Parts: sequence; C-alpha cells; structure tokens
Amino acid sequence: MATRIVKVEPFDLVVFGGTGDLAYRKLYPALFHRERSDQFSEPTRIIGASRRRLERDAFRALVKDALMKFAGVDDGEGAAMERFLSRLDYIAVDAMNDGGWADLKALLGADERIRAYYLATGPDLFGPLAKRLGAEGLVTPRSRIIVEKPIGRDGKSAAVINDVIGSVFLERNIFRIDHYLGKESVQNLMALRFANILLEPLWNSAHIDHVQIAVAETLGVEGRGGYYEEAGAMRDMVQNHMMQLVCLVAMEPPNSLEADSLRDEKLKVLKALQPIDQTNASGLTVRGQYRAGFADGGPVPGYLQDIGKDHSDTETFVALKLGIGNWRWSGVPFYLRTGKRLPQRFSEIVVGFRRVPHVIFPMQPDGIPANRLVVRVQPDEGIKLWMMVKEPGPGDMRLQHVPLDMSFAKAFGAAPADAYERLLMDALRGNAALFMRRDEVEAAWRFVDPIREAWAQSGESPRPYAAGTWGPNASVALIERDGRTWNEEYE
Ligand code: BG6
Repeated sequence: MATRIVKVEPFDLVVFGGTGDLAYRKLYPALFHRERSDQFSEPTRIIGASRRRLERDAFRALVKDALMKFAGVDDGEGAAMERFLSRLDYIAVDAMNDGGWADLKALLGADERIRAYYLATGPDLFGPLAKRLGAEGLVTPRSRIIVEKPIGRDGKSAAVINDVIGSVFLERNIFRIDHYLGKESVQNLMALRFANILLEPLWNSAHIDHVQIAVAETLGVEGRGGYYEEAGAMRDMVQNHMMQLVCLVAMEPPNSLEADSLRDEKLKVLKALQPIDQTNASGLTVRGQYRAGFADGGPVPGYLQDIGKDHSDTETFVALKLGIGNWRWSGVPFYLRTGKRLPQRFSEIVVGFRRVPHVIFPMQPDGIPANRLVVRVQPDEGIKLWMMVKEPGPGDMRLQHVPLDMSFAKAFGAAPADAYERLLMDALRGNAALFMRRDEVEAAWRFVDPIREAWAQSGESPRPYAAGTWGPNASVALIERDGRTWNEEYE
C-alpha cells in the first residue's frame, strides 16, 4: 500500500549527545529512513554536537558505520546515503563551559528556518543545555527542544528540569519524548477505540473485568548499568511507557486529535490513579531482580554481575495492580508487569471482558471463557479478539475460544516504521500530540514516587528471579489471588 509522503520544511537539527548510543542506534537511522523516503526539503542540516573533538568527515564516517550496523542499510544505498551524509555537520560543544558555543552559533547563522535541539544526553544536562541555548541567543522564534526520558529522578527533580527548560522555551516548543507513543500499534489503540463504534459502548466497568499491560524484554541491562542502577524498572519503564499505555487505554474520548485535547484526557487518568503507598504497596506491587540463568539461547549472568557490584536494591522487574478512581473504571484492576531478562520479548495490552451472564450451552460445565482483546504492541504487531464459536461438526454444541486475528504485517505488507521516525518528523512539524506535556510527566511521578518511597521504607530487597523466567512467583500470586491469570499466549 503506497504511503503518502509529505515533505517537511527545511530545518536545522542539532543533536546533543550526537556521538552517543541513542543517536547512533535510533536517531540517525530514523532520519536516514526519512531521507530515503525523500521527506526532507533543501537545505536541511543535521548537526551532531558533543564534547568529543571530531572532524566533520570523521563524524560522517561514524554515522555511516552506524547506519550499516543499526539501520540494516548497505553501501549500495547510493544517492540517499550520499544526500544524507552531505547534510551532516559536527561541532564539539561543552555543555558545562564555553567550548564550542561560538562555533555552533556561527554554523547556525541567522537563518529563520526551523531549528530543533535534540537533547540525547543524560537528564543532568537538560537544564544546563537549555540555559546555555537561551544565554547564547540560539533560541529563535522557530526553535524547539526535544528531550528524552527520563525527565528527572522523581517529581521534585522533574519540576526543576521543567522549570529551567520552561524558562527558555515555551511549553508548545518543548517535545518530551516517550518513544512508546511513536509506536504504530500504540497509536492504533486510538484508532481502535475512537474510529470504531463497536468497542466504546463496552469500554467500561460494566463490561470489562480487568486490563493487563505487559512489556517484557529478554535483554539484560547491557552496557547501561550505570544509568540503570540509578533508575530501575520503575523509573525506566513504568513512570513513562507503561503509564502512557494506561492513559491511552483508560482515557475518555478526546474531542479532537489536537495535542492539548489528547493530553488533557491523559492527564485526567493520571490524576485519577488510586495512590499506592506505604499502607498498601506490599499487597499491590512486586519487584524483582534477575539472577544468573538462561536467556537468548545461552547462560547469562545476573544483574549484580552485569553491573559489577556485590549488592543492589535496584529492581529489574515490576508487577503492580492499580486502580483508576472514576466512573468508567471503578473496580476494574489494571495489572502491569515489566522486566528485563524474561523468556520472551513482547509488549501487549490485554482487555479482559466479563463473562456472559448466563450459560445456555450444556457442554460448557466450567462456564464460557470471557472475550479478550489483545493488542500486540510488539513484535508481530496486531490485534486479536478472542471469541467463542461453535466447533464444526454434527452432534453436540461444542464451543471453542478462537481469535479473530489481524496482523498488521499481513494486512499492510510492511514492517512498521521505527517510533523515532514518526516522533522526529512530528517534532519538526510542531505537532506535539504524541509528546508528554509537563503536567503529565509530573502527575506520573506523583503516582510513582510514593511506591518507591514505600519500597525504600520496607527495608526489603527486590525478590530474586532466574534470568529466562517470568519474574518472581509473587507476580503470579499478585494476579491469581484475584482469580485471574496473566495472559499466557506468549508463554
Ligand atoms: C527504553 C528503556 O526507554 O525502552 C530501555 O530505557 C528499554 O531500558 C527500552 O529497553 C524498550 O524499548 P522497546 O522499544 O525496545 O520496547
């Protein structure tokens, strides 16, 4: 199916942290794919910036290597590759002192074109970089700033960062990335809910029994131990990606796709989350840390070995049960689980409907299994609706639970674009709908902070689980004591 490509106005994109992992693995590949689709207009420039001293040609060579390694492209990309590399420039800039700022200013010049500053750095540099951009007079009326998660370590530090960035950029020019919002299947949740009449009448506590959201990874912390040890799964995954998924499942229909309309509705969900704190955290949350085990087809070390420490209370797994205090969701539990070094990589949202109120089929002594809607976020993006049908054949009325199965790859014949492609283009166009607003980030911290405090107060360590298993047994107990089970289709 042909996709309509709408060109983006010429822009200058400055990537701070321009020689870092995120830039090489995600940003340049995403930009290259947009180049190959001929989405850029002339003259567009992409400028890498970091402390490292590097000539422009050496930078171009590094980016080319990264594209070949991470974007699945080869030397034969011809014109697109040449065009892309010719857009690249590089400036050595030091966020904390004067080095390089005059060069950056000279390179950017007085041009009126769109200017985007992407901070692909640690959050400790967000404030200093934003301030410096302001002080150097680099923030033009058409400038915007794009910042990566995590914004801060807790609500307080997030507010400080937001204050500093907000003193230099208007909120409408601040694009806070949560790359889950750029995933095709996550946006499809909105299409599913609001472009179809079928589901919305059922989308409430009268018909929905519970919701499950899972983000499982097979990888360990890889080379990111330093960052991860400070973050843990709660800050790394729950505060942002999983909270955003909760919002998209639970929000009221926005009255348009306009950024604030959408974000107002998400914010209401975050504000309605029922608090988890010292009084109830032990019954509603489980945290774990992986030990050595088997994953990805071989033996793998435990978290402590991965980070080279003897002790750590950082969680690599979280399961929790949350409630949303409003008319639509009262009494409907949302079960969340996420972890590293689990047996399979998948993310999914499962909406478990209620059972039929009365069974007329005598061959179903245990009752009729409830309908389930499964939105597979990744991999094998798609939607499955589990329904009861009659087993073919004469004789009794035997029923079976079978899925109506829609695979995006089969339906559209193409692998979905990486989330960063969509998000970068949206930021350059000034469309903030898929980015987090300040109050959303802070509301998500308000939910998460008391849970982390309760864990710290408990004096307990995360429960161990062997790499390659589904996390601590307590995570199974969390849902099973309510008479429900984790969706096991993938297990
Ligand atoms: C990032 C986290 O935001 O998301 C990582 O920092 C995690 O720890 C990653 O691995 C997962 O993203 P995806 O797109 O692979 O599901």
